[in-house]
This record gives sequence, structure tokens and C-alpha cells, in this order.
Amino acid sequence: AVGLAATAGVGATSGSAAAVEVEEPAQWTEEMVAEIERTEENTAPYLDEEPTQIAEEAGYWVWDTWPLRNRDGSVAIIDGWQIIFSLVADKSRPEIDVPGDRHNYARVGYFYSRAGKSEGPNGWQFGGEVFDEDAFLGNQTWAGSAMYDQDEEQIYHFYTAADALPEARQRLALAKGATVETGPQDVTVSESESHHILAEADGEMYEQLEDSSGIITAFRDPWYFKHPETGEDWMIFEGNTPTENNNSDSPLNYNGNIGAAKATSEDLTEWELKPPIFEAVGVSQQTERPHFIFQEDKWYLFFITHEFTYAPQLWSEGGRFEKKGKPPGPEALHGFAADGLYDSDMEPLNGSSLVVANPEKAPFQTYSWLAMPHGSGSIVESFVNFQDVDTLGLPGDELKEAFGGTLAPSLKVDIDGTDTSITTELKDGQFPASVGARSRGNGRNS
Ligand code: FRU
Repeated sequence: AVGLAATAGVGATSGSAAAVEVEEPAQWTEEMVAEIERTEENTAPYLDEEPTQIAEEAGYWVWDTWPLRNRDGSVAIIDGWQIIFSLVADKSRPEIDVPGDRHNYARVGYFYSRAGKSEGPNGWQFGGEVFDEDAFLGNQTWAGSAMYDQDEEQIYHFYTAADALPEARQRLALAKGATVETGPQDVTVSESESHHILAEADGEMYEQLEDSSGIITAFRDPWYFKHPETGEDWMIFEGNTPTENNNSDSPLNYNGNIGAAKATSEDLTEWELKPPIFEAVGVSQQTERPHFIFQEDKWYLFFITHEFTYAPQLWSEGGRFEKKGKPPGPEALHGFAADGLYDSDMEPLNGSSLVVANPEKAPFQTYSWLAMPHGSGSIVESFVNFQDVDTLGLPGDELKEAFGGTLAPSLKVDIDGTDTSITTELKDGQFPASVGARSRGNGRNS
């Protein structure tokens, strides 16, 4: 059963008083980018220790990661266990010559731990891949989010069904029906019962592959959330805004956006595309893995972006093709504070939107930061990419050795209005539940 509901229903939410009001997308502007600067508050510590390899025995690389969350967004604890999902690749596959090849072989894997532990015997244990090789949609699965419905006792796996590279057309997908079985020693996430396409780029609000001259056209990374005011089921995702252009180096090809969609069926298999909430036209081609933290009536919107995806005119010299000059910004986590899902005037955190950057001497040390609510701030996790910038020129096997492919030390980030500050480096792969947060709405949580 494929529930394809990709209509351009601008503003066409339900007629109820609580209906979400659609506003023009907020803009990431060149002026904000000009403010980007590494400071003590936003620069992650240099990784001087070898990270713990979280899936070493299984022989997997690990990158984008997300926790199993309850419908209300809190981290789920099931019988004292917590579960995270990661993109993983079997590094022994003969097709994988260099770490970049892993994207074509990405699968969703899971890890479980005794809540409160990230390392040691009760820390993260690899449970395996979650989807049957013949069942998932697309050639490979890219990032998403996972929601556990306590009453139905099933996981909703939102993921990106991506076709093979180089074009890698992407669609938003859902796998339903996985259950969680807990024992005294381990946790088993079962195979899902059904896979559904939820949305595809419509060509009007979201650029289709055929119309793009950009890098890899995005329609990926679905992030499920229950709207805190209306109770509706929504998701945000990474897309691109259609722009008129033919020239591959035009700033208009750097047209990242953050899209939104609303569920139109209770079973979450049918969705309606809504206009984007955020755009980076002329600024960056990618606004990856968008997600929210709701705090004190504010909607904190976070996303990640690479330095090579900034528009060419923003570089001090040349652009990503020339690979010369100073990039406009580092590999980083960015954030904005909004008054709702749509807020044309959302404010860049710290003036520039920069929340977490790699240190200057190791600009590629980690990537794919995910900010999760924790007290009055956030715990931010990421994965280890390359600790040493000089390794990037290495040939195949040596480059594979140098690729981290595991969870990085998490960071505690304070959030105070529109100011943020990295305050503590935590252990590798610490998630909110492992630093004492309680999961709400979970009857079985003691
Ligand atoms: C971020 C990302 C995601 C995508 C995945 C593919 O690191 O580019 O946007 O889903 O990696 O591997």
C-alpha cells in the first residue's frame, strides 16, 4: 500500500481554529553568513583520543544517528533500555573503495544500551540492520527518525528511500510494524511489516532531479514530530527550492530548503506536502537533517551543512569547484529560534546561526550533529569523520583506515534565548537518556 500524497496544498490545513498558519519561508541570508565566526562558545574541542568503535566486531561504519523517541519527542526508554538508529555500512563490501562509497550501501542499523550507559558492558551494543534487504524501498536507505507508539507498541521508521548514486533520487518513506522485544541481556527490534512512500518532490515547492543543476538534489531526512500546539503529525525534511538557471556555477543552484509535510491519515501512511519553512537560496545547496527542539514556547530549528555546499560567490576566492580561498563557514550545526512552525522572522542563534563547528585544525573531524532536548539546553551527538585533515589526500585503504565511522563525544550545549554555548564534552555516543534525562509519556519507565 503506497500512500502518495504530494499535493501543493498551500495553506490548506484543516479548518479548525488551531490550524497551522503558513508563512513565507524564513531566509538564510548572506548577511547572516558574513557573521559566521568560530568562538569558544561554538567550537567543539579537538578530538585527541581515538574514539570507541561502536560496531567494530560487526565490521560496520556508523554515521548519521537518531534516538528512538516517543510521540511527544522525548527519548523512549523501554523496560530500562534505550535504542538508537544509525546509518551503517558493512565496510568489508568489495564495492566500497573509499569512505564516500558507503552512501550507496547505507542501511539502518540499531544499537541498545541500559539507559544511563553509553560505554562499557552496559553501553551500546550493535543489534544489526533493521530492514530486510529485499523489503526497504530504494537502492539504499538514508537518514530519518524513529517514533515509538506506546499504545500500539510499534516503531514508525521514517527514512529516505534513495536510488543509487550519482543522481540518488530521494523519496520520503515509512516502515511500519516493527516491535521491540526486551530480555535480561539484549533487545531485538523486529523487521518491519510494510514500507510506504510518503512523498516525492513535486517540482513546484520542491525541486525535482530533472530540473536541477545542483550537487545532489535533496528530498531526504524526514524528521517526525507531533505539533506541540495542534497535536497534528508533521515532519520536516531537507529539500531544494526550484530556481531558474542553467549555469552550474550560478548562486541560484545553491538552493537548499527545509520542507514540511502533514499527515492526512491516522496510520501515517498518507501525507500532504506543505510549503518550505526555510530557504537558503544563494547561500547553501544543503540544509541537511533538519530537526526541532521545543523549549519555552520557542521552536528551535537546527540543521547541518558542509563547507563545500556554500554558494560560490560567498567564498573569498573561487568556490567549491576551485577549492581555493576561505570557505564562508565551517562544517557545522546551525540553529534558528522561531515562534512556530512557520515564522518568516525566525532569528539566527548567536546572530550568525552557528551553534557547533569543528575546530580549525581539524575542520572535518565530526559531522551530522543532532541536537536533542536536555533540561534547559541540548545534548548534541555526531559521528567521527576524519580527525586529521592531512588524511584527505590518502589513497583507498589508508583513507579507509583514517575514516572514523563511529559516534563522537557528545556535547552539552546551553541554550539561553537566542544564545548558545558548548559547555561540556561528554562521552562518545551519549544521548539525553544517558545523562539523566527522564523520558516522558512512558508508563514503563521507572
Ligand atoms: C548527512 C547526510 C544526510 C543523508 C546521509 C546520506 O550526513 O548527507 O543528509 O541522509 O548523510 O548518507
